[in-house]
Parts: sequence; structure tokens; C-alpha cells
Amino acid sequence: MKGQEWYQAKDIAEDYDTKRFSRGGRLIDEREKQAVLEAVSPVEDKRILEIACGTGRFTTMLADRSAEIVGLDISNAMLQQGREKVRNNGVTDRIEFLRGDAARLPFPDDYFDSVFAIRFFHLAETPASFLREMSRVSRDQVFFDTFNRYSTRTVYNWLLPMGSRLYSESEVNRLLRNADLTLADESHDFILPYGFYRQIPDEIASGFREADTAVGGTPIGNLLASVSYWNTSVD
Ligand SMILES: C[S@@+](CC[C@H](N)C(=O)[O-])C[C@H]1O[C@@H](n2cnc3c(N)ncnc32)[C@H](O)[C@@H]1O
Repeated sequence: MKGQEWYQAKDIAEDYDTKRFSRGGRLIDEREKQAVLEAVSPVEDKRILEIACGTGRFTTMLADRSAEIVGLDISNAMLQQGREKVRNNGVTDRIEFLRGDAARLPFPDDYFDSVFAIRFFHLAETPASFLREMSRVSRDQVFFDTFNRYSTRTVYNWLLPMGSRLYSESEVNRLLRNADLTLADESHDFILPYGFYRQIPDEIASGFREADTAVGGTPIGNLLASVSYWNTSVD
């Protein structure tokens, strides 16, 4: 598993949100939160599991909206950031942060209504086993994102500290069949890759983002997108 060690470090965890989601990265955070919300809503009283929840960006957002949510991650340092967010926001009763390995989820079959993971599958060397495990503990829905093989991400992937596993649509479809999941909905975004937005100030990022979504809305947009969101139902 790429990044399993990397995210254990306290300084990496402490810098995680600022490094990725300040400057133009704020727009990425917004888009990812919108994708999760659209997929799992309505969330009130739903029992949700977030795999590889990291610093709890989505876990806290969903607890705020009255979901009963467990955020699971293998890194104590990342979970610690999530716990601090909860302390600051005060939504302690509907949220549990749990240290665990996504390869062996400590829950019975069909325990959750929805299970999701964001920015996890690009780290997975054996995605089929993780997806099957997510499917096992979910009654209704599994939602996740992938970084795309044929996209601008390919150009700078080799520069990243641990690279990313990139997926083609046919590979995702194979993985879904293998995990007894049926595709309900898909969306594709970010022709300009994340790394670009992070480098530019917030003030000018919005203009690029508008152009990005405008091209993304054309027939070639889906082909060029660097990120895909997959919303599936459990068979
Ligand atoms: C890129 S971060 C994403 C965090 C969060 N999902 C987000 O979007 O901000 C990847 C996370 O996966 C976690 N991770 C890596 N391998 C894992 C495993 N086998 N089980 C659970 N979490 C894992 C890391 O600790 C890290 O927090």
C-alpha cells in the first residue's frame, strides 16, 4: 500500500490540509465535499463508514449534517487531526474515529448504509480486495474516486513522492463486477490536475476552475478528466 508509512508521520499529518487545500486547493476541497454530499445525501440518521478518512474532512462534514459516522484510518497522526477538528466543532456524539486497516474492516456484513473513500484508491496496490471489503460491510452504497490513467495526471505522476495508481474506465468496471457492485452514477472532473490548483493563488484559481468546468462539460471533457467519482449500489 503506497503511503501507509508516509501518513504516519506527525508533521505530514499536521500539514496535510494546509498543503493541499489552501490557495487554489480550496476549490478542490469544495468540489470533493460536494461530490461526497451529492452521493450520500440525505445523510440524516444514516450509518456511514468513511475508509481512509485522514484528517476527517468529510467525516466531520457529515456528522455536522446528522449522519452517524465512523471514520477509519490506519494512521494515528491523521486521526489525531480529525479528533482536533471535532473538539473545535463540538459534534462528538455522532462521530467515531477508529484506527484500522481497510483490508480487514472490523464490522459485520451489511453493517453500514453507505461506505465511501476519497483519495484512497490511488494508493492501493490491490484495489479489488479493498473494494470487496467495502462492499461487504455496506448494505446499500459504495462511493469512491479514482485518478485517471489517460489524463494530465499522467504527466506529473512520476514527480510525486509515491506516485499514484491510475485507473482506466474498463479497469474500474472490472473491479465493480468483482465486488458485486453496480454503477449507479459516475462523474468526471479536473482536466487541470490538483497539482496545478495548489500552486496558484486563490484569486486566480477561480478563473481557471471556471474554464476547467466549462471544457469538462463538453463531450471531450470526460475523456480528459483526471478524477472520476463512482457511485455504486451493492447487489
Ligand atoms: C491521501 S490521504 C486521504 C485522506 C482523506 N480521505 C482525504 O481525502 O483527505 C490517504 C489516507 O489513507 C490512509 N491509509 C493508507 N492505507 C490505509 C489502509 N490500509 N487502511 C486505512 N487507511 C489507510 C492514510 O493513512 C491516509 O490518511
